[in-house]
Amino acid sequence: MHILAEKEKRVREVSTPNQEDYLEAIWRLTQEKGYARVSDIADRLHISQASVSKMIRKLKADGWLDVERYRGLALTPKGMAEGRQLLARHQILERFLLHLAIHEGSIIDHDVEGIEHYFSVETLDRLTALVAFIDQNPLWWDKFLQKIPPASKP
Ligand code: CO
Repeated sequence: MHILAEKEKRVREVSTPNQEDYLEAIWRLTQEKGYARVSDIADRLHISQASVSKMIRKLKADGWLDVERYRGLALTPKGMAEGRQLLARHQILERFLLHLAIHEGSIIDHDVEGIEHYFSVETLDRLTALVAFIDQNPLWWDKFLQKIPPASKP
């Protein structure tokens, strides 16, 4: 059991869903505004600034973040690579749900936030391939969609 835990650690360095949510949110803010502030992150994740500050210290200690004096927080290169990957994972899952004819934003957000942390890299690669395959071969997928009850319209 100990060996397995060690192995899983190596597979993904960011281990908790909570940390992943932070890094994804900080990456999104960085993309949108060029930087992320504690208050922006707190708004985005619906949590208190005190909780954010606490996690920021941990993320900084683990080498994901640099704290800059004026512009707020900046991801390190390792943090950027992780943020980019986490956002890509989120977006692939969104696209998959859209292919299932689920169009309601609140359902998509709820479901993706719920499941995204639990996909292994290998499973996600396969899902990415499936989404691309559906995009390139829409006819068989349309046939499938006709077999399932229509999703409730927004
Ligand atoms: Co997400």
